Amino acid sequence: MQSLDEAARAVRGALGSRGRLTVLTGAGMSAESGVATFRGAGGLWEKHRLEDVATPEGFLRDPRLVLEFYNARRRQLRAVRPNAAHEALARLEGALVERLALITQNIDDLHERAGSRRILHMHGEILKARCVSCEAVLPWPGDITLEDACPACGDRLRPHVVWFGEMPFHLEEEIPRALEAEVFLAIGTSGTVYPAAGMAAEARLRGRLTVELNLDPSEQSHIFDHCVRGPAGTTVPAFVERILAEQP
Ligand code: OAD
Repeated sequence: MQSLDEAARAVRGALGSRGRLTVLTGAGMSAESGVATFRGAGGLWEKHRLEDVATPEGFLRDPRLVLEFYNARRRQLRAVRPNAAHEALARLEGALVERLALITQNIDDLHERAGSRRILHMHGEILKARCVSCEAVLPWPGDITLEDACPACGDRLRPHVVWFGEMPFHLEEEIPRALEAEVFLAIGTSGTVYPAAGMAAEARLRGRLTVELNLDPSEQSHIFDHCVRGPAGTTVPAFVERILAEQP
């Protein structure tokens, strides 16, 4: 494990005054806001069978169960707030503007509420619903029920999230472009779910600088040039402060 200072120094060097930085966030980013992570003690996949609630087959078998799982998470989101890590990344976007790309696996809206503007939600957004037939996407802050129908074609609605076995969003253009950035930074992700889990290796193969900020070692820690351990609410603001200290 390296120090935060060392990692921040390397990032400043790789960025210079024109370099680009791509950030990938995972559930660990929202953990200190009170949103449960997926894996590990107390994680969502300990209490729910992933096959039942996060696959197209599960939705076909028991749509009510799946809708209830996401309705509960949507309701819980109203009770939480962005933490210092989300706020720090929004400050970073304010300074780097188009030199920063933010890819998140999180379906919550905490990056938006902290002030980030350009966010690639590769696993979708829980506050939207999607028609199972015509794929119309609608803002949906409340529960989705079996009785709710698509205003365009009348068919059933599902959460606008990516389930296992489905293709994540933004893989054709935005994410490949983002992975060309000089620096790749992963925050709060266990590195177990592909294609996100393969991004560090891809960036490394291209000779980019890779940094991980995570509470525990992840499945991909061996890939990164620098790994910093600690809670995101502490490490991310400190890291951002050090990077911004030398930006023009
Ligand atoms: P995981 O739950 O797999 O991993 C969360 C990671 O965050 C772990 O490595 C923790 O050590 C770390 N962590 C926990 N608290 C933290 C904190 N306060 N600060 C920093 N790190 C912390 O979540 P993801 O990697 O995001 O996909 O999971 C990836 C995907 O698997 C999710 O998007 C979801 C899930 O199944 C789908 O549902 C399609």
